[in-house]
Amino acid sequence: MSSTTGTTTVITNIASLVTNDPSLGDGSPLGLIQDAAVVIEGDRIAWTGDSRKAPATDNRVDAGGRAVIPGFVDSHSHLVFAGDRTQEFNARMSGRGYTAGGIRTTVAATRAASDEDLERNLTHYLHEALRQGTTTFETKSGYGLTVEDEARALRIAAAHTDEVTYLGAHIVSPDYADDPAAYVALVTGEMLDACAPYARWIDVFCEKGAFDGDQARAILTAGTAKGLHPRVHANQLSYGPGVQLAVELDAASADHCTHLTDADVEALANGRTVATLLPGAEFSTRAEWPDARRLLDAGVTVALSTDCNPGSSFTSSVPFCIALAVRDMGMTPDEAVWSATAGGAAALRRTDIGRLTVGARADLALLDAPSHVHLAYRPGVPLVTGVWRRGAREV
Ligand code: NIG
Ligand code: FE
Repeated sequence: MSSTTGTTTVITNIASLVTNDPSLGDGSPLGLIQDAAVVIEGDRIAWTGDSRKAPATDNRVDAGGRAVIPGFVDSHSHLVFAGDRTQEFNARMSGRGYTAGGIRTTVAATRAASDEDLERNLTHYLHEALRQGTTTFETKSGYGLTVEDEARALRIAAAHTDEVTYLGAHIVSPDYADDPAAYVALVTGEMLDACAPYARWIDVFCEKGAFDGDQARAILTAGTAKGLHPRVHANQLSYGPGVQLAVELDAASADHCTHLTDADVEALANGRTVATLLPGAEFSTRAEWPDARRLLDAGVTVALSTDCNPGSSFTSSVPFCIALAVRDMGMTPDEAVWSATAGGAAALRRTDIGRLTVGARADLALLDAPSHVHLAYRPGVPLVTGVWRRGAREV
């Protein structure tokens, strides 16, 4: 078993432990163990089970009858940016609609920012997310839209996470407003060459006003040829080809999925692509909610993430997204917690995170509550009171 610190810690007296292993505990998808303990060795989970049978170790933490869950896996965020769009939010809350055009405001601010500013901003939101239980996050470029600014964003992101996504195809750069084809050529050529070394994923905003199906296919295919794996901003603001393209290209995830036809749902149900729902965006744009129930009933794997960005969803809080999903998207609390942990891991094609099973990464959150259900039952309350990441206590 790998070990970064060599120390062993046992967390005992856990009222309710979410393992996300259905072969454990109550046999539900959450694999709930009551009166549980967890043993952490180095950066990995070494043991889970009945608290009374927990092996003795030097470091013992008494959970005090509270719940422990896997750390959240936020598989969709846009955290390399500068500036803020308070005015745009205010205008929306006074009745204006959301358009992708606001992205240009953040592009201008991001281009003008220094590397240090971007780094400081990113670190700020990462700590904010960590305090709310997020132990893994994906993040993207997409507010640079020049070769240098996109590569810079990814280099900065890659210093903080392995889950880095090249989103040069967020919108057509304002510099190419008259020649979108030339921008697609840049995104699939010189910009891709400069960005691929820093990224694991390639993404495209497939939407009216951004990139159409043919452009999105060309962009994703070019990325795949360079060793990147696809994920897609799909069907957010309107019906369109994004979801079916994502499934066709075996993208790890189709994100947003707000406007879906029956054929879209069927494609997702028959493919491996996870549907990542981002209710912070619908909250902040006053748009209709994605129908999680419809997807779950069709057998689609659903992830829940924040989409944290200064335009459409300025929240870093996965617990907030869980509460929205339960209140407005037809998810049960169990489903929402699974989607924000194991679902996020599935959307990143990861099996080492999002669950608390022997050998998994020791990323977990201690809640000031007896059960994970409180994440939805007590919305807006900061329930995360302890966070371990790679076996080290960070909160
Ligand atoms: O996921 N949909 C495209 N991109 C972001 C919004 C970015 C912005 O408005 O700045 C999203 O919602
Ligand atoms: Fe997004």
